[in-house]
Amino acid sequence: MSEQTKVTVSNGGFGSKLGFILAAAGSAVGLGNIWRFPYLAAQYGGGIFLLVYLILTVTFGFSLMVTEIAIGRKTGKSVIGAYSEVNKHFAPLGWLAAAVPVIILPYYCVIGGWVLKYMTAFLTGQGKTAAGDGSFFSEFIGHAAQPTIFFFIFVILTAIVVMLGVNKGIERMSKIMMPVLFILIIGIGIYTLTLPGAIDGLIYYVKPDFTKFSIKTVIAAMGQLFYSMSLAMGIMITYGSYMRKEDHLEGSVRNIEIFDTAVAFLAGLIIVPSVFVFSGGDASALKSGPSLMFITLPNVFDSMIGGQIVGAAFFILVALAALTSSISLMETVVSIIVEKFHIKRIPACLIVMGISLAMGMLSVLGYSDWSEVTVFGYQFLDFFDFVSNNIMMPIVALLTCILIGFVAKTKFVEDEVEENGEFKSKTLYRVMVRYVCPICMLVILFSALFMKL
Ligand code: PHE
Repeated sequence: MSEQTKVTVSNGGFGSKLGFILAAAGSAVGLGNIWRFPYLAAQYGGGIFLLVYLILTVTFGFSLMVTEIAIGRKTGKSVIGAYSEVNKHFAPLGWLAAAVPVIILPYYCVIGGWVLKYMTAFLTGQGKTAAGDGSFFSEFIGHAAQPTIFFFIFVILTAIVVMLGVNKGIERMSKIMMPVLFILIIGIGIYTLTLPGAIDGLIYYVKPDFTKFSIKTVIAAMGQLFYSMSLAMGIMITYGSYMRKEDHLEGSVRNIEIFDTAVAFLAGLIIVPSVFVFSGGDASALKSGPSLMFITLPNVFDSMIGGQIVGAAFFILVALAALTSSISLMETVVSIIVEKFHIKRIPACLIVMGISLAMGMLSVLGYSDWSEVTVFGYQFLDFFDFVSNNIMMPIVALLTCILIGFVAKTKFVEDEVEENGEFKSKTLYRVMVRYVCPICMLVILFSALFMKL
């Protein structure tokens, strides 16, 4: 088995530990970090949410990520092949996990296209028109032509990187994009903190508000974390299959966690104080989802000195974050096609690109020409998002924990982690995978289905 892994890696896997870490962090750092984390932190008690999130990252998130990367590296296979190699009765789980990126990739790229539109607007000095009562946004997504063009551009950019391969495409681009992203987020963060009144916003963001603490805080943090670390969609298995045997797995996961959490925290440091300043201290201005990113923030930038530049930098940052995530989604699907159907990388990319363009059009049209069409009361994009995030992903993670915790046994993962060094958190890992993570997954699943959190 290890022979096979070596072959896969030498055939174009990640060439360095840093390359792997940056690519995996690139997947983890995405729209979730920037538009969802800050809002959740503000909504669920500031510092107390941050603390809960941090504790969950180093325990729950850590264990799930170690599991996936170890499965990938040990088997050296794509997500479908990997699950059936761990245990052939779990092959259907591989298919279920593989379906998640197929569903997410198209709509993620539609949103990526929206980000490109705003980036272009700010870069061409038209940020002012993007501000206002939200009509710019509703006009934009309400007519299919422009969203389609930007969506296509985003898919094509993603496909170009994936076509270039793991080493020459994904790794090389991650090594450029991730440092740029980090510099941008720190730069914008410092600038927004110097705005008058920003410190009150900062305090609001980091100060624990125990009155807002409840079990919901924990559930919200758990759901966010799980999405933010790109778990349960085969991505970490795929990237793990390209990881070098000689690199330390546990240490790499710790680095990815730090990167992902730092970017989420810094995004909050930009968004919460700047919205606070803009709204004159009214925390309710901090909304969730698209309206924060595409309506509130353009107004916030418009009100700042140098807002045009800050806005452009911000949307470049978001575009980079979204692109490295969509690359990981596409790679996961491409790796399956290459392995299962023996098709070469470039034609496999073209196939995935074609499927994504077709499926994504449903989401584009769902906001424009077909806006009256709904699926179980959801627009297409929201429906895909709900099914993948709230139903399929918790099921995949739950069954993965059962597979490793009780069927294959945790030794399967432990041996892989110990290939090159000690597994420092082994006891924690065992308890998490066998007992805590499955319970957490059930809680996420039930709360999504019945509590409408
Ligand atoms: N981890 C990404 C984020 O925080 C989400 C994501 C990545 C979704 C990859 C899908 C695929 O936004």
